[in-house]
Amino acid sequence: MFIEYGELSTLFYETTKPVGTELDGDITAYKEHLGATTGKILEAGVGTGRMLIPLLQAGFDVEGVDISSQMLSQCRKNLKAHQLTAPLYEQDLTQLALPTKYEAIIMPTGSFCLLPRNQALQILRAFKAQLVEGGALIIDSILPQDFTVGEVYQRTLPLAEQTGILFTSTSLEMDWVKQQTVALHRYEKLEQGTLVQTELSRFVLAWYGIEEMTMLLQAVGFTSVAHSINETLVTFYAN
Ligand SMILES: C[S@@+](CC[C@H](N)C(=O)[O-])C[C@H]1O[C@@H](n2cnc3c(N)ncnc32)[C@H](O)[C@@H]1O
Repeated sequence: MFIEYGELSTLFYETTKPVGTELDGDITAYKEHLGATTGKILEAGVGTGRMLIPLLQAGFDVEGVDISSQMLSQCRKNLKAHQLTAPLYEQDLTQLALPTKYEAIIMPTGSFCLLPRNQALQILRAFKAQLVEGGALIIDSILPQDFTVGEVYQRTLPLAEQTGILFTSTSLEMDWVKQQTVALHRYEKLEQGTLVQTELSRFVLAWYGIEEMTMLLQAVGFTSVAHSINETLVTFYAN
């Protein structure tokens, strides 16, 4: 019934956060965390390559995996435009199985919170299995401090003189028991005031307590777990 990271959502993401856009300095921070890494790195939920491409340009050997064919297609275009190549896999992280073992897996932008909460342990276990012995996992988790039920946020994004996207996010639910928020994301493409395309996404974001995520990471075999906090984003470093 809904579509996550479909055509309009991808266009909106690519236009508002083009390759290299820093979100609270995250690309710089990930480069620093990965500083000593020379082996293969996997970006889980690679999206359009916003972070992948600067990491490749900095000399890291990064591959990407994502469930959205539209986001991956944009990523391929962006790689080509930057005269770069990288293996990209279309795969659901709940079924992760890739041919390579990685020295590090990263999942920036709070994307881990998009994954089904009841499969978190299984996904973290699959991440661990996909790492070389002693490999590092770096993931962000978002705390829903700014979420208010009933709030409506709108943004108009011009694409050309007579074309644009009207984005409306309506905050629907804050489920304290399931620890998740639900918002309805509506992307409307307008041409000279006429609606030509609509895309609706049921945007579910889980959240994790810091102790909880630390214990989950330890439960799947990471012996060293640390975290840092930047506003509502918590970054976990595990190996
Ligand atoms: C917020 S975007 C982040 C993109 C990129 N990592 C960045 O930092 O710009 C989240 C990405 O996670 C992907 N994603 C969500 N659920 C997924 C799943 N179950 N398996 C694989 N990718 C998933 C989406 O398709 C989307 O491209």
